[in-house]
Amino acid sequence: MVDNFSGPALSSAPGARPHPAIVMADEVADSAADQLQQEMGAEIRRVAGADRAGVLRALMEADPVALLVRSATAVDAELLRAAPQLRVVGRAGVGVDNINIPACTARGVAVVNTPLANSHSAAEHTIGLLLAVARNLAVADSSLRAGQWRRSELTGVEIYSKTVGIIGFGTIGRLVARRLQAFDARVIANDPYIDPDSAARAGVELVSKEELMRSADVVALHVPKTPETTGMVDARLIALAKPGQILINAARGGLIDDAALANSIRSSDGPHRGAGIDVWDNEPDVHSPLLELPQVVATPHLGAATFEAQERVGREVAGYIAAVLRGERVPTAVNAADLYR
Ligand code: MLT
Repeated sequence: MVDNFSGPALSSAPGARPHPAIVMADEVADSAADQLQQEMGAEIRRVAGADRAGVLRALMEADPVALLVRSATAVDAELLRAAPQLRVVGRAGVGVDNINIPACTARGVAVVNTPLANSHSAAEHTIGLLLAVARNLAVADSSLRAGQWRRSELTGVEIYSKTVGIIGFGTIGRLVARRLQAFDARVIANDPYIDPDSAARAGVELVSKEELMRSADVVALHVPKTPETTGMVDARLIALAKPGQILINAARGGLIDDAALANSIRSSDGPHRGAGIDVWDNEPDVHSPLLELPQVVATPHLGAATFEAQERVGREVAGYIAAVLRGERVPTAVNAADLYR
């Protein structure tokens, strides 16, 4: 949603180039580039977001008006200094923990993201990880390919009639709850920002984190990464877990104490049966003790990686970028409240 903004449209800005430069770091759907080329005649330069030196070089050479990223590019003050004409940072996805929002606001740079466009894919990936852990699918697949028939060892557990605890009852948490209710699971949740009546209308009881850990057979994390949530699933909470618990994290790396969870899975008296983990600290250079355990199903940040979600995300973020460059206000911009004061 956009409305008028007093900022100048790009074409009327002094010294404006006929073909505005846009740097796309990370893999973003072609639909975003196509739309920006068609609507604005933009010149797109692509670069790998994890290649810090490459991103800085691309920004200095192209001097872009827009930068489009996913989670691999750390958008900080140094990066902003390399792009003096930058007007907008587009995040093709939800999480903005890789973007220094105050630094963008101080420079008058809008930060736009797509909070809903990949939610269904993220919710479906959570369910996929859960079923894979509950039914030992990764080990079943790799052992059969290795010529082993380990049928009796690979007995799993059902989701039916289990208690599932969701930490973070926002858009994705709610989609996951609905899907798990279809398995006839009881769903409880923890979220200090949600009104208990609204959770009750979704058939979900709000409880404390401690109670959730004690009573849930499955715990799924759906919180953003903030100072409040970083490391929230620590050794203390892990020790409280109900025996046999499965923990799923398709939200953000850094929320869980990986070493404590690995110990809980590994040791015979530890409460955890296994875990499904899609997101990691320090991606893509992942070093976690969880990767050594067969009870853990690990994926490389694939929650939003579907053709449909990427297409939707690409179109939506390109629309917001074009609006900012036309001089319009984007009220859903992450820093709208401070930027449009
Ligand atoms: C997101 O925050 O939307 C996810 O990290 C998706 C992604 O960028 O791949």
